[in-house]
Amino acid sequence: MIKLPITRFLLFFVAIGILVSCGEEKKKRQLSLPKTDLKTVSIIPLPQKVIATETGFALDKFSAIFTTETANGFAEVGAFLSEKIQGKTNLDIAVNSVQNDSLEGIIYINRSDSLELETPESYQLYIRSDSIIINSNSAAGAFRAVQTLRQLIPETANDTLADYPIWAIPTGKIVDAPSLAYRGAMLDVARHFFSVADVKKFIDVLAYYKYNGLHLHLSDDQGWRIEIKSWPKLTEIGASTEVGGESGGFYTQEDFKEIVAYAKKHHMMIIPEIDMPGHTNAASVSYPILNGNGKTLKPYEGTRVGFSTFDTRKDTVYAFIDDVVREIAEISPSPYFHIGGDESHVTKKKDYIHFVEKVEKIVQKHEKRMIGWDEIGTADVDSSSISQFWSSTENAKLAVAKGMQIIMSPAKKAYLDMQYDSLSKHGLHWAAFIPVDTAYNWSPKAYEGIPEKNILGLEAPLWSETISTISELEYLAFPRAIGYAELGWTPKELRNWDTYKKRLADQEYYLKRMNVNYYESALVPWKDE
Ligand code: ACM
Repeated sequence: MIKLPITRFLLFFVAIGILVSCGEEKKKRQLSLPKTDLKTVSIIPLPQKVIATETGFALDKFSAIFTTETANGFAEVGAFLSEKIQGKTNLDIAVNSVQNDSLEGIIYINRSDSLELETPESYQLYIRSDSIIINSNSAAGAFRAVQTLRQLIPETANDTLADYPIWAIPTGKIVDAPSLAYRGAMLDVARHFFSVADVKKFIDVLAYYKYNGLHLHLSDDQGWRIEIKSWPKLTEIGASTEVGGESGGFYTQEDFKEIVAYAKKHHMMIIPEIDMPGHTNAASVSYPILNGNGKTLKPYEGTRVGFSTFDTRKDTVYAFIDDVVREIAEISPSPYFHIGGDESHVTKKKDYIHFVEKVEKIVQKHEKRMIGWDEIGTADVDSSSISQFWSSTENAKLAVAKGMQIIMSPAKKAYLDMQYDSLSKHGLHWAAFIPVDTAYNWSPKAYEGIPEKNILGLEAPLWSETISTISELEYLAFPRAIGYAELGWTPKELRNWDTYKKRLADQEYYLKRMNVNYYESALVPWKDE
C-alpha cells in the first residue's frame, strides 16, 4: 500500500533532478555556445517548416534520452537515436534511465496527438538550449524526426567550450510531414544477387533520407532468389545462375525475415516481387511444367528481356503461384505483393489478361494488395491494386480510369540504373542518361497528366544487369537516391536545384563516414575538390 506513494515521491525528485540538475549547474549554464542558424544546416529532405532561434543545444556526456514508454515503438526509436549518436560522436547516451545525477540537456521523444501532426509520419522537433522535444503521433513519425536530428549534429565537436567535447545543435522549431505516402527504392537481386549485409547497408542509407520502403525484385530470367519450401528446386536450380556466369545465390526464409526485421527497425517495409508471367526462365528451368513458351529450357545468364512466359492456362501454374504467394506472404508483413507483369512479350494478350486477373485473386486471398508494373492496367484489375508507372503513360492512365493508385517510377527520370552520362562506369541508357540534376528536376505529382489524387508515391528502381557489388550499387544509387528522397518528401514549392545541390554537397561527410561509394558528379559543389 505505501509502496506506490514512495515510488511517486522518488520519481518526483528524479524529475526535479533532471530539470534543475542540482549540483551540476555550473556546466552548461555557463557555456556560451556559438550562435548557429538552424536554417543554414543542410537537411535532406528539406523539412516543410523551419524556424531558427539562433542559440545552441549542447549534446555532450550529460545528455540523455527519455521517450514515451507506453506507446509502441517509441523506446526503440530512442535506442536507435542513442546508437546513431554513439556512432557519430562516441557519446554513450542513456535511454529512459537515470545513470548519473547530473543530467542536463534531455532529448524527449513523445507520443502526441496534436492536430498539427496529421499523418503517421509527421513530426515536430523543438530544439531549445536546455532540451530537445520530438512530438509525433506514431513511432514512424518520431523515427523520421530522429533522422532530421541526426543531420543537425555537427560532424566535429567543439573542444574549446569545456574540458569535454560538445556538439552544438542549432535551436529552433521544425514542423514536418511527407508529401507522398510511399517513398521507395527497388533493388534487383535477380540479375545479380546481393547479400543480406549489402541490403542492410542500402537500408541504412535510405532510412537516413526518410525512405519508407524497399522493393526487392526477387525473381527474373537469370535467377530465383527466395527459398520456397514447397518448391525446393527454385533455389536448388533456379538460384545458381546470374548475369555474366557468376554464382548466384538466394535468401533463405530466415534471411528474408532478417531483412524484414532490419527494415522494420528503420520504419521501412520490404515489398517482395515475383515477376510473372514473363521474366520467368529461372522458375521454368527449375520446374519445366510451368513453361509456356514452347521452347527448350536452359539457364539464362544474358540480359535480353521478354522471351519467357508461364503457361497461363495450366492449373499447376496457379497452384504453384498460390504456394509462392502464401509462403512469402507469411513472412512479409507489408500490405503489398508485387507480381511484376512487365514485358511479357511472348504471352498472348488474352492470356496475359487472364493471368493477371487470376493472380490478383491469389494475392487478395493471401490478404495482400497487388502491385504490378504498368502493363497490369490492361487487365480488368481491382481499384485496390496498384500500378507502377515505369514506361507507358497510356497504361498508367488505364489504371487511373479504374481508380487505381500509381507508384511513379518513370524510367526516363527515376531509374537508378540509367547512366549519369556517356562516361558512367556502370549502368545502361536505353531510357535516358540521367544526370544528378535531371534526376531532381521533375515532379512525381505532376508528371504526364497522372492526377495527384491517384499518386501513392515515388519509387526509384535499381536494376542490376551491370552491377554486382555493393560499391557498384552505391555508384549508381548515390547521390541520385538522395534527390528522390527530397522529391518524395518535400513539397514542390520548396524544391530548388541550386539550393539543393549545396545541401547535397554537405552529404559527403555522412556518405564518407558510411563508406558509400557515391558518384562525385561535377554538377555538385563537393567540398573536397
Ligand atoms: C521494367 O523495367 N521492365 C519494369
